[in-house]
Amino acid sequence: MWRRFLIVAVLITAVSVFISIPTFAVPSGTLEINSWWTAGGEAEGLKALIDLFHKKYPNVKVINATIAGGAGTNAKAVFKTRMLGGNPPDTFQVHAGHELIDTWVIPGYMQPLTNLYKSEGWTKVMPKGILDIVSYKGDYWSVPVNIHRANVLWYNKSVFKKYKIKPPRTFNEFFAACKKLSSEGIVPFVMGTKDGWEAGHVFETILIGKLGAHDYKGLWTGETKWSDPRVTDALETLKAIIPYINTDHSALTWDEAGQYLLKGKGAMMIMGDWTNGWFMSVGFKDYGWAPTPDTGGVFDALSDSFALPKGCKHPENVIAWLKVLGSKQGQHDFNKLKGSIPARTDVDISDYNDYLKSAAADWKKDVIVPSVIHGAAACEGWATEYKDAINLFISRPDVSYTQKALIQAAKEYLGS
Ligand code: GAL
Repeated sequence: MWRRFLIVAVLITAVSVFISIPTFAVPSGTLEINSWWTAGGEAEGLKALIDLFHKKYPNVKVINATIAGGAGTNAKAVFKTRMLGGNPPDTFQVHAGHELIDTWVIPGYMQPLTNLYKSEGWTKVMPKGILDIVSYKGDYWSVPVNIHRANVLWYNKSVFKKYKIKPPRTFNEFFAACKKLSSEGIVPFVMGTKDGWEAGHVFETILIGKLGAHDYKGLWTGETKWSDPRVTDALETLKAIIPYINTDHSALTWDEAGQYLLKGKGAMMIMGDWTNGWFMSVGFKDYGWAPTPDTGGVFDALSDSFALPKGCKHPENVIAWLKVLGSKQGQHDFNKLKGSIPARTDVDISDYNDYLKSAAADWKKDVIVPSVIHGAAACEGWATEYKDAINLFISRPDVSYTQKALIQAAKEYLGS
């Protein structure tokens, strides 16, 4: 009698363990993903990733928590409040480089992902330059989903053709084009400055053009001084562009300003290659691209990544999400719509558009420099001071005052 009871008990335990293993191991519950991807192209890219996640993990309910504002102007403040307030999102968009490491990793807010990198084999399929900027003290801290290029000049092909303008390679050619277009009643240079970062984006490409890759990088390490006359020249150049910008720039976001290009009322725009994703999403094909003036052969790079905050509510779902982000399929589907190229080197991009194929080729052969506005080159405090100084410059283009502010910011963060 006792023996029969024991056998039944063992059987019941075995069956319940068998039943409970899959329910325990299969991710379920919710996953809150935070990002600022709300514009055309980027929203579709994110949706493609979430769709893929749903296919693999149908039991997890995704909360797609987006906060509008290009370059994360509004989102980053919300992430900070939640992280510091002990209410971290499950996962959030963060730029690889100083933004990730200085803001979140060094102060101890993130969990290392080194085991995941090993089990997923990512160390073998991501380039060293990318692995380096998500690393700190021998561990990996976030999963890069893409590589974006910041120094792209987009132009309306028909407008250029009509006025017989070639894509400008130098600032001289650029200003000659501006003069001609302006005399024809076309807005030469399209810009939206509503979110406060767009002028800083344009200016970093001017700095690269004026200083070259090596010395531009030196601005962020202390090797190049911000008092350098080439920085003065870069500010003078931005000042000279201002009269050629659409006058309603302060009311427009980057994509709203892009409407000038779409309608053929504006000719050129300097913006990252999420613009390529946006053009695709609105069905606009009449565009060409070139490196921004005097930056041919240089790739101003940034990478979006996601991480695992300490104390988040659904860590196992975040791990599942990160696996999708880092997978071949995830990187393929996302970047095709987003306008960026995969961070992985083994993704087949033969079905990508011509711009993306050209970006992938440039990424392999160009000199890579880090973007400051998009978190790669400097810590957030410094990047913010830089951004604010240049944004103010658009309404008050005082070269000497602004250069002093830039010198001061560098002193604060480099300590010399
Ligand atoms: C960047 C981000 C891109 C894109 C862009 C415009 O900071 O890395 O993925 O979203 O902002 O919002």
